[in-house]
Amino acid sequence: MAENFMEWEDRLSIGIPVIDIQHRRLVEITNKLYEACRQGGRAIRGHFIATLHETVDYTCYHFGTEDKIMQRIRYPEYAAHKKEHDDFIIKVLKQMQDYEDEKIYAPHAMVRYLRDWILSHIAITDLKLGTYLLEMKKTGALGKVIIEPEN
Ligand SMILES: [Fe+2]
Repeated sequence: MAENFMEWEDRLSIGIPVIDIQHRRLVEITNKLYEACRQGGRAIRGHFIATLHETVDYTCYHFGTEDKIMQRIRYPEYAAHKKEHDDFIIKVLKQMQDYEDEKIYAPHAMVRYLRDWILSHIAITDLKLGTYLLEMKKTGALGKVIIEPEN
């Protein structure tokens, strides 16, 4: 079996189930995107673009989940965290547009950028949010904020 481009590791867990589950899914989708560009050549261009759209859609959905939680708890670092999300989406959308307009042809570089950004954002910024939420939970201040996945 081909090796995955990205591997989920327990050290990536921030201890907040609803967020951890979505991060795992992001890793899976990034692997799928890597597979789409690994096949190479112009023939797979449409498939790569479709998978890229799927990746961006899921990332936006995931950012929305974190956003809701941060707003609910009036997270003190909300603005900075949100800015990281917004800047990332703007950058990825720009890369995507350039790719679709055939200004750039660098699918591998795009997937690597995605992977590196996701890993460092989880390890630093999301971990900080997770630690804050767990601290609130410990003191009973989390109230009704949902950190368990819905289903
Ligand atoms: Fe985040």
